[in-house]
Amino acid sequence: MAEIQAPQATRARTLPTEWWRSAVIYQIYPRSFADSNGDGIGDLGGVRAHLDHLEALGVDAVWFNPWYASPQADAGYDVADYRAIDPVFGTLAEAEELIREAHERGIRIIVDVVPNHCSDAHPWFVEALRTGPGSAARDLFCFRAGRGEDGELPPNDWQSIFGGPAWTRTSNPDGSPGEWYLHLFAAEQPDLNWENPKVREEFEDVLRFWFDRGADGVRIDSAALLMKDPALTDFDHTDPPFPHPYTDRDEVHAVYRSWRAIADSYPEPRALIGEVWLPDAERFAAYLRPDELHTAFNFAFLGCPWEPDALRRVIDETMVVHAPVGAPPTWVLSNHDVPRHVTRYGRADTSFNLEYRQLGAPTDRALGLRRARAAILLTLALPGSAYLYQGEELGLDEVEDIPEALRQDPMFHRTQGENLGRDGCRVPMPWSGQVPPFGFSPADAAREPWLPQPRAWRDRTVEAQTGDPDSMLELYRRALACRRGEPTLGDGPFAWLPAPESVLAFSRGPQGRFVCVVNLSDRATELPVAGTVLLSSGPLDGTQLPPDTAAWVSTR
Ligand code: NOJ
Ligand code: CA
Repeated sequence: MAEIQAPQATRARTLPTEWWRSAVIYQIYPRSFADSNGDGIGDLGGVRAHLDHLEALGVDAVWFNPWYASPQADAGYDVADYRAIDPVFGTLAEAEELIREAHERGIRIIVDVVPNHCSDAHPWFVEALRTGPGSAARDLFCFRAGRGEDGELPPNDWQSIFGGPAWTRTSNPDGSPGEWYLHLFAAEQPDLNWENPKVREEFEDVLRFWFDRGADGVRIDSAALLMKDPALTDFDHTDPPFPHPYTDRDEVHAVYRSWRAIADSYPEPRALIGEVWLPDAERFAAYLRPDELHTAFNFAFLGCPWEPDALRRVIDETMVVHAPVGAPPTWVLSNHDVPRHVTRYGRADTSFNLEYRQLGAPTDRALGLRRARAAILLTLALPGSAYLYQGEELGLDEVEDIPEALRQDPMFHRTQGENLGRDGCRVPMPWSGQVPPFGFSPADAAREPWLPQPRAWRDRTVEAQTGDPDSMLELYRRALACRRGEPTLGDGPFAWLPAPESVLAFSRGPQGRFVCVVNLSDRATELPVAGTVLLSSGPLDGTQLPPDTAAWVSTR
């Protein structure tokens, strides 16, 4: 079993080569961060204008959701040109400037690479449609003849992850009904054929393109989906062809081994971060072997209910999975695909899973907020790196009353509204002022924000929370500052401490001199160790920690 590396004492100040082992990574959803030109859509100018916020928050790196040229059928996850910035966000020169400016502030940049599929507007797909069946251009995708007498039925029974069939029929250049193509997501996102060497070469080149421009790492979208069942067998629930309903074939690992060689060929190695959404722990860990990806998102933690046993289990399992491959665990509470955790933690059922999003279930904001405050102290004290999703530092909640006509998520449209989708966690950030657009767009903006912001957000702006010691924002700032100054946090030793039932307590560092305590019971509990309270998510009553409250204690 590989030993978990202790962090270097100089982590915060010098950013070691393997910075991703301990980094706090802030996720920017560019459409919703800040709009500099008043068209109601966030852009790179908006990000550049708000780098102060990221620096004051104290994050080590930023991951950008896709900023590439795209028709935006799935908010940029339908890429038409992997080497160009979408004009709605800005230009390549601006992206380069942004990378430079972030580096000047000691903030690393991670770009999103989307290898499973591209856009139907990508020149390769346009060419594939134009050239017709059997062409070399079609072999870059998964085109197949349909079943049934006239090919009128899809080639197999796979369903799109966004709902509806995973196949769309094309027309031949002469207008007659033609072949079908596979899309595990929206029809505007044709899946690429990773058996074709040209696809592999292309993405290796895309990696180099962004690494050469200073990107410090890539987040790999749908990383386990690339290699399909070559026979495209119908999905048999009792005996699926692979552990994942569609894919996760072993051959995908060769792809990541070659990506790893590229990432490691830079004098300052670049990070490979996978979105590996697999329920099977062993198969998940296979992506993190020493010559593959450096880290991957921890969706088990993200979906875990606010319950002591479940949390203890998921923390243990996470460490058990990562230790043998020597990869640092990661921790994440929210992202652009899931309901905001302030809302989730205020519900009767505090779990999340992809099949059951609970949108619209009643929620108690005060309770959710209290738990979210405790949860961030838990998250930032666990070993490894952590991801923050923009707006969680403001305690933003899921917006559940977006009018149907304004909803944009293909998940909503492809399920005929049965699944409300992900728009509610993508509402533009409130920065300042009393009324929308809350400083998201300039005062004289031509358009309203692309999704409406709730009026109640006037007391959740960055401006309103700055300097208020009780605000979520100031808690995040203090927690991140404390983490930076505390070398035992991030990657390194971890040990559970004895504590009453429903209380999580653990120490960090070789001598266990840092302790995190989280009270998940419904009554106050005595801190299990003596020491100085460095930070708490809510007021303590002497040495009593109230329910749904967390504290960081130094035992030195
Ligand atoms: C996962 C991304 O996080 C999600 O937003 C996107 O819709 C799908 N992959 C498809 O690219
Ligand atoms: Ca804009």
